[in-house]
Amino acid sequence: MAKRIDVSGLTAYYGNHKAIEDISMTVEPRSVTAFIGPSGCGKSTFLRTLNRMHEVTSGGWVEGKVLLDDEDLYAPDVDPVSVRRTVGMVFQRPNPFPTMSIYENVVAGPRLNGTRRKGELDEIVESSLRGANLWTEVKDRLHRPGSGLSGGQQQRLCIARAIAVEPQVLLMDEPCSALDPISTLAIEDLISTLKERFTIVIVTHNMQQAARVSDRTAFFNLSAVGQPGTLVEIDDTERIFSNPSVRATEDYISGRFG
Ligand SMILES: Nc1ncnc2c1ncn2[C@@H]1O[C@H](COP(=O)(O)OP(=O)(O)O)[C@@H](O)[C@H]1O
Ligand SMILES: [Mg+2]
Repeated sequence: MAKRIDVSGLTAYYGNHKAIEDISMTVEPRSVTAFIGPSGCGKSTFLRTLNRMHEVTSGGWVEGKVLLDDEDLYAPDVDPVSVRRTVGMVFQRPNPFPTMSIYENVVAGPRLNGTRRKGELDEIVESSLRGANLWTEVKDRLHRPGSGLSGGQQQRLCIARAIAVEPQVLLMDEPCSALDPISTLAIEDLISTLKERFTIVIVTHNMQQAARVSDRTAFFNLSAVGQPGTLVEIDDTERIFSNPSVRATEDYISGRFG
């Protein structure tokens, strides 16, 4: 189920502003890749090009290729809505649908995809909440609002909602930045389990988190303010944190800038 992502020569624009330039990388199935780099270098923009969310922002367009296994996500006959189903996304702030119950949050996607039978939906709810490591905490209050949960629980609910449609890739944009340290560790544990089933890409500004959860780390940077962000290097996380190839990477992870 999990798929390989193969990006080549990806440049993304907002109108005529070039936000990121000429990015190429491969992300292996069933691995976690962390994106790090200073604010504004285009990590979120690049992440959104991987499921065609970038073009939903005003003026957003891209050049280059993103392959999911062998399928070009930007080929003319590809439906962007189905891409977003295959490549799920979890955002910085937990954003459960506020008026919906926990149960309804999880089944919203499967319902849109045409699953109607209650037994089937019940099963999806249990397996997704178990998958997001939230089931035991909420199984007795499935029909209460998702907004009543703690921040960390809400973020795990958003992860349950994302995996309920069985995506092949999960993109996470600073998923812990609004969470306390205990909830953060819970999400990190969860990521380690989820990578057995999904290809995962996570943007984080937390170096320890990148070192803890990822197999590969990509460092992005800007050559100057106003210039597009570029991929400086991508390598095994251990190597990026012990002996990176590029000086700027070392400066960034040791806190000398950014
Ligand atoms: N919706 C948008 N409209 C126009 N420019 C944007 C938008 N979002 C981001 N940008 C610009 O794209 C560049 C990269 O931003 P972003 O991808 O958010 O970086 P990061 O996630 O690394 O902080 C920045 O110059 C930012 O101002
Ligand atoms: Mg960002």
